[in-house]
Amino acid sequence: MEQIRADKLTLGYGRKDVVKAVDLSIHKGEFLSIIGPSGVGKSTLLMGINATTSILGGSLNVLGQDVSSIRNGDLKALRSKIGVIFQGFNLVSRLSVLDNIASGMLHRKPLLSAIFKHYTEQQYEEIYEYMKVVGIEEEALSRCDRLSGGQKQRVAIARAIAQHPEIILADEPISSLDPVSARSVLETLRNANEKYGITVVANLHQLEYAREFCSRVIGMNSGRIVYDGPPERLCQATVEQIYCSHTSREQQNTGSFHFPFSPAAAAA
Ligand SMILES: Nc1ncnc2c1ncn2[C@@H]1O[C@H](COP(=O)(O)OP(=O)(O)OP(=O)(O)O)[C@@H](O)[C@H]1O
Ligand SMILES: [Mg+2]
Repeated sequence: MEQIRADKLTLGYGRKDVVKAVDLSIHKGEFLSIIGPSGVGKSTLLMGINATTSILGGSLNVLGQDVSSIRNGDLKALRSKIGVIFQGFNLVSRLSVLDNIASGMLHRKPLLSAIFKHYTEQQYEEIYEYMKVVGIEEEALSRCDRLSGGQKQRVAIARAIAQHPEIILADEPISSLDPVSARSVLETLRNANEKYGITVVANLHQLEYAREFCSRVIGMNSGRIVYDGPPERLCQATVEQIYCSHTSREQQNTGSFHFPFSPAAAAA
């Protein structure tokens, strides 16, 4: 089932176009990563799916809604079906793991029970299930500011799952994590994808992880999609096309660039 469809979609800020005439079709249950150099429009495209960046041209349909003409009520309903995960976790640090995960259920709970953090037995059971899916049940009552980065990101994933989303958008979910934590976060996203059939679209800077975890990779450069296919077909020449042409332009501006992956892994 097609969940996201972009036709000649142009997104940007003010009159500046950042994502340029992109065609894209994403189906339920895909685990997809968007890769590419810094500044090419990956976050702009991801947040466009969540209807937070302006459509300057073309069309975008997400979960059956035409995003360019969406009304406020429908927009709220659409966003409730999309979980968003950020590099910086965006948890309420002084609240416990349990309360943070429960906040993902807000749109499904009466306001007063949300304010007084009153959960029914069924809700406790549900939250516990999500804790087990992300492997954080032993920290259920810990304050989130006492957790490691990897644990925080797993709580953020559990909170997103608690939202009962159709889609999870993850903007660089592992960029601030060490390799072991990064891997456990991606495994957790894969669990959510496989167990609940949630479509996952993640911006990643680490090509090795995109190859290992994702069924499909989109390579972006200068606001355009220059590769769209399975990770196995990503050959060295394509990787260079994704990263290098933008690089030379970036270098003129910044004077420096570092490959975000190991060339050995890319050639493998
Ligand atoms: N809120 C904004 N207002 C104006 N321009 C913006 C805004 N956000 C991003 N841009 C510009 O849009 C372009 C693409 O930014 P975007 O954040 O989508 O890139 P990215 O590929 O996600 O980069 P990175 O890998 O560094 O996160 C950049 O030139 C950036 O300066
Ligand atoms: Mg970004």
